[in-house]
Amino acid sequence: ANETPVRHQPPTATYDSAFLKACRREPVPHTPVWFMRQAGRSLPEYRKVREGIPMLESCTRPELVTEITLQPVRRHDVDAAIYYSDIVVPLKAIGLGLDIKPGVGPVVEEPIRTRADLARLRDLTPEDVPYVTEAIGLLTKELGQTPLIGFAGAPFTLASYLVEGGPSRTYENAKAMMYGDPELWADLLDRLADITAAFLKVQIEAGASAVQLFDSWAGALAPADYRRSVLPASAKVFRAVAGYGVPRIHFGVGTGELLGLMGEAGADVVGVDWRVPLDEAARRVGPGKALQGNLDPTVLFAPREAVEAKTREVLDAAAGLEGHVFNLGHGVMPSTDPDALTRLVEYVHTRTAR
Ligand code: CP3
Repeated sequence: ANETPVRHQPPTATYDSAFLKACRREPVPHTPVWFMRQAGRSLPEYRKVREGIPMLESCTRPELVTEITLQPVRRHDVDAAIYYSDIVVPLKAIGLGLDIKPGVGPVVEEPIRTRADLARLRDLTPEDVPYVTEAIGLLTKELGQTPLIGFAGAPFTLASYLVEGGPSRTYENAKAMMYGDPELWADLLDRLADITAAFLKVQIEAGASAVQLFDSWAGALAPADYRRSVLPASAKVFRAVAGYGVPRIHFGVGTGELLGLMGEAGADVVGVDWRVPLDEAARRVGPGKALQGNLDPTVLFAPREAVEAKTREVLDAAAGLEGHVFNLGHGVMPSTDPDALTRLVEYVHTRTAR
């Protein structure tokens, strides 16, 4: 993951969108909104086109990826699309034996536990993921002025699946490696940083307007461990894509104590879950960064009046921010009523119209 030279490109079709302006901390016509996991099982049209097609296979079909990515944009009028893929796609693309089990998540055939296992993590090249370049080409044409967010899993969150062999609540094997063999752990995260950076570069070169690094499970770590054992690898990813000038978003769940460090890692926008109000999050992150968040996704199961009241709380806490991208504090839950999401987008747009 070498540093990319700064390129002076003419402003793109998406440059003046509310989403990119908010990421750059410029004045916006309204607070932009998108939802993590906005494409997916909450939408009947998604369930229909995915019928009979395994998750990871669906990610390799450019027309299908394009359709699924566009579905929530059409339905909800969100301010950005997020590329339909998964954090394990680049790992599958370099030949690791893994799958996504419905209702479970990523499962790895042979977990990474020893130094010899590292040899299975080879570099990723654009030729490994031709379908990404093709799908993003199709998408940016269809999206016009609506930005496309590319994404990848951060080294720690990827390592948590690779070392555990699947989803975990405790991360005991990953943490055992982190504490017990810090050199092996550092080398593992460094390998993953290179793969992640290469995967993000493919997406940006193909036309993604912003990127989000998902360190979903980093909240399992104490700040000192995060700083020592995780931040260097995530910082390497952010440095590798800095030269493109696209906003870099950094998100994790339960990361209230890590918000400052996650900003320090090199993010332009820090994602916040629902546990820390945005004004307090801004104090923890410090100046010079925008924030993204942070409505509790379960609020959407409450009646409309309650959703609106909780949304006002988020917007009030965001009132003094340098830049705010409205989102949920984590992904849309599959059983969410999609109409509640459409209403939420409209409510935020109307309430924040300037
Ligand atoms: O709309 C979007 O947000 C884009 C698509 C997207 C998916 N995965 C598609 C998907 C994104 C951004 C991801 C990221 C992802 N994948 C993360 C980070 C985000 C987060 O939620 O914290 C993580 C941890 C994963 C790993 C993963 N993949 C899990 C935990 C699961 C859920 C397993 C299940 O069935 O409940 C997946 C599968 C997955 N990725 C689905 C989708 C739409 C559901 C599978 C399906 O529809 O068949």
